[in-house]
Amino acid sequence: MIQGKAINSRHAIFSPVKNMDKPFILINLKTYPEGAGQRAHAIGDAAAQVAMESGATIAVAPSYMDIRPLAVHTGVPVYAQHVDGAEPGAHTGFITAGALKIAGATGSLVNHSERRLTLADIGAAVTALKAAGLVSVVCSNNDPTSAAAAALAPDYVAIEPPELIGSGVSVSKANPDIISRSVEAVQKVNPGVKVLTGAGIQSGECVKIARDLGTDGVLLASGVVKAKAPIAVLRDLVSLV
Ligand code: G3P
Repeated sequence: MIQGKAINSRHAIFSPVKNMDKPFILINLKTYPEGAGQRAHAIGDAAAQVAMESGATIAVAPSYMDIRPLAVHTGVPVYAQHVDGAEPGAHTGFITAGALKIAGATGSLVNHSERRLTLADIGAAVTALKAAGLVSVVCSNNDPTSAAAAALAPDYVAIEPPELIGSGVSVSKANPDIISRSVEAVQKVNPGVKVLTGAGIQSGECVKIARDLGTDGVLLASGVVKAKAPIAVLRDLVSLV
């Protein structure tokens, strides 16, 4: 849970308090070949192993094709990479929150930088996830968008500067200010919304910095998915918290 001093006036100084809970690590497998089919299973198994060793919550967001098999055969929470806010019924080609629930998903990303949505679509997706009892993780690209996302009351807002996604350069080191500003923006709008950060996350040091800035954990992809030994990276990610 995010902790921070209450902001009672516009003159109050925001001061995040170090999060003492175990981190939430959410691995987005995107459409990487290294994260599909049997290779998705291998990452899911590695995540389950490191979650058991460390007490951290480690979840995977595979392609739709792998949601059901991973939910059944690995011990980790499985997220979708996108969900539509559509009602069940005559909506050809849409993925509903209800369908994700039936497939065994725990939640879904919404509005990833690689799958941007309108504010209305984000709101509909969050509402649909809530109605299905699923966890919503709304991605944002800057702190004003983080504030707008928080107003929709998702479970998490994940701040990811697009220019650092897949770059190998960590947001924690290259742009820690955007993390602090997003944590503050989200806290001001809705203190019940938790914050993740992502883009270039690759080590325990990245996770520690993110957590010290007031986030609950990280959203990452290439650092784990494209690693020669994903389990070694996962162990490093949880090593300092
Ligand atoms: O959703 C996670 C993501 O966009 C960050 O990707 O490869 O920089 O960890 P990456």
